[in-house]
Amino acid sequence: TIPIIFDTDPGIDDAAAITVLLTNNVFDVRLITSVAGNVSVDKTTNNVLKLAHYFNRQDIKIARGAEKPLVKPFKDASNIHGESGMPGYDFGEISTKMIEKEAVEAMHEVLKNSAEKITLVAVGAFTNIAKLLQRYPQDLKKIERLVVMGGSLSGGNLTSVAEFNVFTDPDAAKIVFESELDITMIGLDVTEKALLTSQSMSELLQLNETGKMLMALFNHYHDGSKDRGKPMHDVNTLYYLLHPEKYELEDLWIDIVTDGPAIGATVADILHSTHSTTNTHVAKDIDVPSFNAWYLLQIARISDA
Ligand code: BDR
Ligand code: CA
Repeated sequence: TIPIIFDTDPGIDDAAAITVLLTNNVFDVRLITSVAGNVSVDKTTNNVLKLAHYFNRQDIKIARGAEKPLVKPFKDASNIHGESGMPGYDFGEISTKMIEKEAVEAMHEVLKNSAEKITLVAVGAFTNIAKLLQRYPQDLKKIERLVVMGGSLSGGNLTSVAEFNVFTDPDAAKIVFESELDITMIGLDVTEKALLTSQSMSELLQLNETGKMLMALFNHYHDGSKDRGKPMHDVNTLYYLLHPEKYELEDLWIDIVTDGPAIGATVADILHSTHSTTNTHVAKDIDVPSFNAWYLLQIARISDA
């Protein structure tokens, strides 16, 4: 099993990832933390609670995180993920509760008390992670690695150069990328390719109730091309953890732009000309058919309650 802390801003592709996280027992989920991103932190927290309730995971610790970026004003992506962040499905009355501690304190407690190192996965803005590193630098040694969805080597989705998670809080991203963490960056280069195809989506609908729930969300997901499929950005972090051989990676130095017209860009030292070392394993390619087959299998094995 992989002991994991998952930091997220659901968000429809976040929900697609959390579905796997909560139902595949390879993941030993120690904590889920929420952050403002696709929608406000109240809504992203509530969306995590909805999913934990849906999958009967009252055992999962859920902590509310940062309500705004470190420096930049907050702007959501409700144009893509809907007003609630997870529209289209009625999760009914929610029985799950968040814990009292805020995200950074909860992360610190889990890391401090864990006998083994923990894998951190971040699929929203990196505000909580940056705050953790600033407040508890000693926790770094308890973190096995950090796998993020964010950034891009090949142009952005929020501006022509910036990917949404990095753009939302570039100052946090800078702190994180300049830390000593072992970072794997799965950015748009891969996630915009990793579409759940229209064919896969029609199969998903037939699988079970969870397939129907996901499709209800995906029908409200305004990302990607209608005919080819929809990008499962955040799901890639989990697929990568389970099947790294399905990705092609390159070690690079990544700098984060924190102001000016390129704010939020992840600048890779591709020519190895500005740095003599590297700070990130960057995903550059993925086996898309395998990704689709794997995702369908993950959902197919969930039994209806
Ligand atoms: C990232 O931005 C968010 O809208 C998605 O959930 C994903 O984490 C893609 O750029
Ligand atoms: Ca996300």
